[in-house]
Amino acid sequence: MGLSYFRRFRMEIDFETVDLPEPTLAEGFRFLNWHPSLQGRHAFVKFESFRSEIDSRVFRCLGEYSGCQRLMGEIAGQRSFIPQSTWLINYCPEGESEPGVDCGTIQGLAQGRVLGSIQNVGIVPDFRGLGLGRAIVLQSLIGFRKSGMRRVYLEVTADNSPAVQLYRSLGFRLMRTMYKAAEVEVAQVC
Ligand SMILES: CC(C)(COP(=O)(O)OP(=O)(O)OC[C@H]1O[C@@H](n2cnc3c(N)ncnc32)[C@H](O)[C@@H]1OP(=O)(O)O)[C@@H](O)C(=O)NCCC(=O)NCCS
Repeated sequence: MGLSYFRRFRMEIDFETVDLPEPTLAEGFRFLNWHPSLQGRHAFVKFESFRSEIDSRVFRCLGEYSGCQRLMGEIAGQRSFIPQSTWLINYCPEGESEPGVDCGTIQGLAQGRVLGSIQNVGIVPDFRGLGLGRAIVLQSLIGFRKSGMRRVYLEVTADNSPAVQLYRSLGFRLMRTMYKAAEVEVAQVC
């Protein structure tokens, strides 16, 4: 194992300076608002979304199902947890049996009276590029605003271009660059 440093951006959106359109979902997709009975489903979507991505190298827990279960428990157990900004996207086309397939997750916390933070946004690989990432972030932002937040921030690995592009296109602005140290496996050269 060796130590690597990952460049991370803190990005922030201010509700006073952006319009938040209502998100739309294609037929068969629906938002499920937070309920404690959905905790395991959030953990599973988180794991499926992050297991092969750069963030599972930055945060090892994201690359393990048990790590995602633990993380979801920690997030949902915080006093600052915001149910209104925590959503699943489920796909269940008409005629198919419930519960369908869960394909997106997002969670929100309050970091002060008017400042919220998005925890993890994940869309499972088979459902990417369909506008679901944009839709779930918007749905969460609307929940933050309803719960009294004026600004929301998140942290994203700088090399994660899809995510950085998504946040920029929604109106998030770069506030700070940070470096996160993480233990990574080093390739053995024989
Ligand atoms: C980042 C992520 C949530 C995007 O989800 P998605 O459903 O594929 O995104 P959308 O289809 O809603 O795309 C919305 C915007 O994101 C950006 N985007 C999405 N995929 C992109 C890609 N492969 N390359 C560049 N930009 C991309 C674009 O700006 C896009 O807008 P456009 O379609 O008008 O060009 C998804 O790739 C993911 O879950 N990644 C793994 C987990 C992760 O890294 N989460 C972020 C942690 S901070």
